[in-house]
Amino acid sequence: DDLEGFIQGLPKAELHVHLEGCLTPDLAARLAKRNNMNLPESVSKASSSTGFAFHDLISFLAVYYPAMSVLQTPQDFHDLAMDYLTIAHSQNIRHCELFFDPQAHTSRGVTFSTVVEGYSSALTKAQTDFGISCSLIMCFLRDHSADSAMTTLTSLLSLPKSTTSLITGIGLDSDERNNPPSKFTEVFALAREHNYNLTAHCDIDQQNTLSHIHQALHDLKVHRLDHGTNIIDSPDLIDYAIKHNIGLTTCPISNSIVTSDFKGKEILELLREGVKVTVNSDDPAYFRGYLSENLLKLVRETDVMWSEVVRMQRNAFEISWVDEERRVMLL
Ligand code: ADE
Ligand code: ZN
Repeated sequence: DDLEGFIQGLPKAELHVHLEGCLTPDLAARLAKRNNMNLPESVSKASSSTGFAFHDLISFLAVYYPAMSVLQTPQDFHDLAMDYLTIAHSQNIRHCELFFDPQAHTSRGVTFSTVVEGYSSALTKAQTDFGISCSLIMCFLRDHSADSAMTTLTSLLSLPKSTTSLITGIGLDSDERNNPPSKFTEVFALAREHNYNLTAHCDIDQQNTLSHIHQALHDLKVHRLDHGTNIIDSPDLIDYAIKHNIGLTTCPISNSIVTSDFKGKEILELLREGVKVTVNSDDPAYFRGYLSENLLKLVRETDVMWSEVVRMQRNAFEISWVDEERRVMLL
């Protein structure tokens, strides 16, 4: 219909998608076969028609990490990223910043450079083949230690710059319970010294959510907040976000599954107050919706105006970490 054509035609940017969250049951099965491995149980229980089974963030993560065991070689990481970027291109996504979780691989014996090599070669190919611009955001798993995060950053800093040039940002994800942003103040400070852009997941429906948002902004000094819609409860934090051009990367379908509220009301209110809100897909293979489906959900289930959907995509280009020359072309 008209609406689907409008969403499809809109030039888009995606700023919150986890590469490991793009692993479909079908691709996992192909990679398991190629690597002569048994399919992890969490994957064999899923099928291409019903998807993976979970009902909140914790049960999601319990399926998500075991499924990654099929990722072994640079080619596996390449294929995962290429499959996603092919879909992104088909949805008219022009710029994309992709999260990845090195510790989910190094902790099971896959080297840091295997991961970076495989993902980087796919991004380079997609930039050439599709004319999409893309970069990587390396996340620390917040339920691992601060030392482990520091080891991961050291791995990044010790590789030749030419092999890591697509990594432009640092993020923080995984289980937020009892893992406040302040746990990572030191490692974020080092990343900042090395000129990485910074962001952190501040999920909804977690404990101490406003204090976590406050720590992310003031201790980690992040430039964006992933999810972060609880900021709605603090006029001070909203003022700060507007004043410092702190964007929010919200993910409606993901939120509707892991927290049973897609936060449509908060997204609209924050947008209308002037916060740079964007819509994104999070873990599309798991939550079964890419960027266009997330935008369609918002349009169908709220009174958002089409002009506001355009504004959210402009916001995405504005708060992206693309180089200025390319930004001018995207805007
Ligand atoms: N890792 C992948 N997806 C995530 C999410 N939605 N929240 C926290 N960590 C994640
Ligand atoms: Zn996320």
